[in-house]
Amino acid sequence: MPEVHIIGAGETKFGELWDKSLRELAVEAGLKAIEDAGILSKDVGILYGSSSLAGTLNWQNDMGSLLADFSGIAASGIPAVRIESSTSSGASAVREAYLSIKSGEYEVAMVGGVEKMTDIYGSEIHDIVSTTLDREWEAFFGATAASMAAISARKYMKDFKVEKEALSMISVNDHANASLNPNAHYRNKITLDAAMNATLVAEPLNLMDCSPVSDGASALILASDKFAKSVGKDGIRIKGSAIAQDYLALHSRESIYTLKSTIQAARQAFEKSGTKASDISFAEIHDSYSIYGLMELEDLGFAPKGKAKDLVMENIGLNAPLPVNPSGGLKAKGNPMGATGVGQIVEGYLQIKGKAGERQIKNAHDGLFHSMSGSGSTSVVHIIGSE
Ligand code: COA
Repeated sequence: MPEVHIIGAGETKFGELWDKSLRELAVEAGLKAIEDAGILSKDVGILYGSSSLAGTLNWQNDMGSLLADFSGIAASGIPAVRIESSTSSGASAVREAYLSIKSGEYEVAMVGGVEKMTDIYGSEIHDIVSTTLDREWEAFFGATAASMAAISARKYMKDFKVEKEALSMISVNDHANASLNPNAHYRNKITLDAAMNATLVAEPLNLMDCSPVSDGASALILASDKFAKSVGKDGIRIKGSAIAQDYLALHSRESIYTLKSTIQAARQAFEKSGTKASDISFAEIHDSYSIYGLMELEDLGFAPKGKAKDLVMENIGLNAPLPVNPSGGLKAKGNPMGATGVGQIVEGYLQIKGKAGERQIKNAHDGLFHSMSGSGSTSVVHIIGSE
């Protein structure tokens, strides 16, 4: 089977982008990726568009066709489909693109992830985001994404005797890194004290434990090794790609603080890539809520269960043994849901290419990218590397 390389990446700024429409964001990221890859749009064999909530947020479905239309590839008859798996939509789309090349069907695939969330605010946006939960058994009774994360946080903190400090450190790290990322939603550094004492959202989680509601778009161009060579591109190889599933409703899971889908996807991605946790030089993890950052570091294999607190207190900064979320993560780079998982890999591509500017990690080689739906029903893990 052909090897799959990332040969181009592009993204918009993440944030409250009131002067740009859904389609403008998507096209901006897509054109940047095509330009970066140095290909023509007619070279693209298939386009995967990802958006989690465009149908309800923007009254726009069929994102694949919209993206193809406005990035100028519809006239060439290039197929375009939308991939949706809630907050992991972007990573799922990258995986579909990867598989389309791995299968031998296409030489070049484009992935475009976008979300335009800030046109709706107040309780309406929370209600729409809650559609990513089990509507009948969770959201109907008033549960929100934040309250589900809070339930997991309370039990996790009690069972493992973890203090709030450890959760807050996830956000402090994200904000520190985002301060060096011009495309991040929030570029302010925060102190541990400020992170611990922000306004409560769902106890014990406060404003600084929550990813924001963001607009933004990210895009990648994937190609077979044969195509990459033919255009003289030295891409970054996707070494492993895996997806795994758990129950949608939190109450159906074996544990409310163990992400079984993450454990399975990570195990498969390590196996397929022939790497192990100690080979990873940096990671982008789906910390939509700070508690998930701790759970994910454990379930991805970077810390024993209940012990991520020791890792995050000292060892996840840009110069640490395992830099986590050099982009600023979901908390501070932002979380435009359909773009988030694509954007994580855009960051990986930049880091490994040595093009990450002020937030560049020394000796970035193999990177792990974890994206998750809601409270953990679907997990997608990619491992990409320089050789
Ligand atoms: N982190 C830091 N600051 C935030 C923030 C966040 N997550 N969310 C909002 N703010 C800031 C805003 O910039 C604004 O600052 P300003 O007054 O200086 O302009 C202020 O807080 C109030 O913003 P507002 O939009 O009114 O906040 P809100 O109370 O409506 O929303 C949350 C705050 C945490 C509820 C919202 O960000 C949220 O729902 N986040 C989670 C999104 C989510 O669940 N995504 C899917 C994950 S699965």
